[in-house]
Amino acid sequence: MDYKSLNAQLAALVEGVGHPIANLANAAALLWQSLEQINWCGVYILEGALLVLGPFQGKPACIEIPLGKGVCGTAAKLDQTQLVPDVHRFPGHIACDSASRSEIVIPLRKDGRVIGVLDIDSPITDRFSEADREGLEAFARILEQNI
Ligand code: SME
Repeated sequence: MDYKSLNAQLAALVEGVGHPIANLANAAALLWQSLEQINWCGVYILEGALLVLGPFQGKPACIEIPLGKGVCGTAAKLDQTQLVPDVHRFPGHIACDSASRSEIVIPLRKDGRVIGVLDIDSPITDRFSEADREGLEAFARILEQNI
């Protein structure tokens, strides 16, 4: 997938829409239909010290993740993208779907503070490249401005 076109599609879907949940749901659906070799994509929203499951595609997932726990909690706590080539080598990885082998989690921010994360899982080890990181970080920048 070409991230320039994916991110243009996201902007067309969410800009000017004043409904955060609708935008998060459409963003998850767009990723799901556009990215190959993924088994889960969606968001967790920060509520106090907990990340709470938001709109997603894939199997039902963990509802609450404490800040600092798992790949998602680490990305939110450090305010830093976590690109994990092999989840079995990430201490504390939370296996919501046992098929997951690699994962990328990107913080979502508002007014300079983390408000949640965008999480994408793949059943393939080492699925996500630096190009994916760049493209998905740009995706997150568009999304966070529209929620
Ligand atoms: N694997 C994540 C948990 C969320 S699921 O992948 C949907 C983690 O370790 O934070």
